[in-house]
Amino acid sequence: MNDLTGSGRVLISPAMAIRPLVTLPDPRLRLKSEPVDKITDEVRNLAADMLETMYDAPGVGLAAIQIGVPKRVVVMDTAKKDEERRPVVLVNPEITWASEETSTYEEGCLSIPEYYEEVERPARVRFRYTDLDGEAVEIEAEGIVATCVQHELDHLDGVLFIDHLSKLKRARVVKKFAKAAKREKVEAES
Ligand code: NI
Repeated sequence: MNDLTGSGRVLISPAMAIRPLVTLPDPRLRLKSEPVDKITDEVRNLAADMLETMYDAPGVGLAAIQIGVPKRVVVMDTAKKDEERRPVVLVNPEITWASEETSTYEEGCLSIPEYYEEVERPARVRFRYTDLDGEAVEIEAEGIVATCVQHELDHLDGVLFIDHLSKLKRARVVKKFAKAAKREKVEAES
């Protein structure tokens, strides 16, 4: 997946910035993101900031809504720590096929810090997207890439990985984050 960023312009943006992450229970995480009409500098800058923010966190994937932008843009890099970076930018991604066979990975999310749980999803998916050169791309993925794509595309529709857990587990984590947010609010006001 080396050439998926197209020209690589995203990597040399002069004004890349780490943006604050939107975390649970922020209601923006439940928004349905809007499609991108055209690849503009604004989109390229957004993708650059998303990559910067993701690498800083660090994480393997990030959807635009996680920095508060409700656009259908996802960045990913599933390269291992000792490998060279392989940034991927997906604009308007869509899953076109998913295998019946499933696999289970322990997932986490930059919007739900320090919470990890196993999630079962289709083991292989085919998906299409527009790259930063405006080219349509369709590829098939398996393993960690397939899981990551499904996790990130869920974000575009306001779905979080905890929605794939049992009601009990989900309720527990939602409560924990709601409580922490309340505590922070009280501390900020006092
Ligand atoms: Ni996530």
